[in-house]
Amino acid sequence: MSFKIAVLGGDCVGPEVTAEAQRVLVAVSKRFGHDFLFTEAPVGGAALDAVGVPLPDETLNLCRNSDAILFGSIGGPRWDDNSRFDLRPGQALLSLRESLGLFANLRPVKPYPLLADKSPVRPEVVRGTDIMVVRELTGDVYFGQPKKRWVTPEGRRAVDTMDYSEREIARIVRVACELARQRKKRLTSVDKSNALITYRLWKEVVIEVCAEYPDIELSHILADNFAMQIVSNPTRFDVVVTGNLFGDIFTDEASVLAGSIGLLPSASLAGLPTGRALGLYEPIHGSAPDIAGKGIANPIAAILSAALLLRYSLGLEKEARAVEHAVSATLGAGYRTADIASPGSTQVGTREMARQVIDRISTKED
Ligand code: IPM
Ligand code: MG
Repeated sequence: MSFKIAVLGGDCVGPEVTAEAQRVLVAVSKRFGHDFLFTEAPVGGAALDAVGVPLPDETLNLCRNSDAILFGSIGGPRWDDNSRFDLRPGQALLSLRESLGLFANLRPVKPYPLLADKSPVRPEVVRGTDIMVVRELTGDVYFGQPKKRWVTPEGRRAVDTMDYSEREIARIVRVACELARQRKKRLTSVDKSNALITYRLWKEVVIEVCAEYPDIELSHILADNFAMQIVSNPTRFDVVVTGNLFGDIFTDEASVLAGSIGLLPSASLAGLPTGRALGLYEPIHGSAPDIAGKGIANPIAAILSAALLLRYSLGLEKEARAVEHAVSATLGAGYRTADIASPGSTQVGTREMARQVIDRISTKED
């Protein structure tokens, strides 16, 4: 089959890890006989430097006309003190999510047993963790209006507005329920209904939508309690659904379970995970300016994001699994980038780690 894939490497380590994920996709296309047409476009700081805006129209149009977007990471100290908020690299990601309607952010957290010693959380707590966090991505305090800052007689003031509609909540809960159906059929909704009226509505709508899924066991947890449970008792969770800001924070927190943020992929979808929706696929890590250009960044998060791309936007489940197996096998063979190195393992750079994965895909070692 033939597919169009937009490649937006972005800044710092972004282009380095994205190039490896693209190589992995090329290996998949050769082995399984698909035709992937890749087109690169600038985004973030790279686009600011080239054309003066973080998300050029050409880049957005390319994304609109693609089946999926492979994304790296954006931002870096060079652009940090841009005085205009809308001219910061991170703004590109928010505009992409909004313009493309990418409302469902899937962030699986499934630590590799082999790397259990890399987490600061005790191995017996981490063991068996397999969570799918479903983060709402185009609402909440990120996008609510008004959003402004101004000067009052008492001093400066700024307002972000927390806003959720029934429709926005219902559609993200449906995504979570569909995923729960494919997994252990347990759904936890994280809210702050004891303090925020938006989360009261959230909880109500969650209950209503879940009534359509009687096979799914629903529970509710308050966000502060969840922040504690996710690192003290992570195996009690299967699918977790929450709003934009909580989802942002808790997925970084959950990444400590995996041992390195360099391991975790994400998918941002414009529809249900069962329907080959347009999606943007990116590591959950940032642009890591401190290690950029050194060839040592861990490409696994980007490679696993490519696997999610195959699964959710192209509907190629067998191919997605082949990539995931190849990554597990590469770790199993003892290859480690610096962030997950341990005594007795073979330390490799970005390129070599990806090459090991590609070899295993090409030789059908799965
Ligand atoms: C993420 C990032 C973004 C977010 C930033 C870069 C705006 O932290 O994708 O998790 O907050 O959503
Ligand atoms: Mg984040």
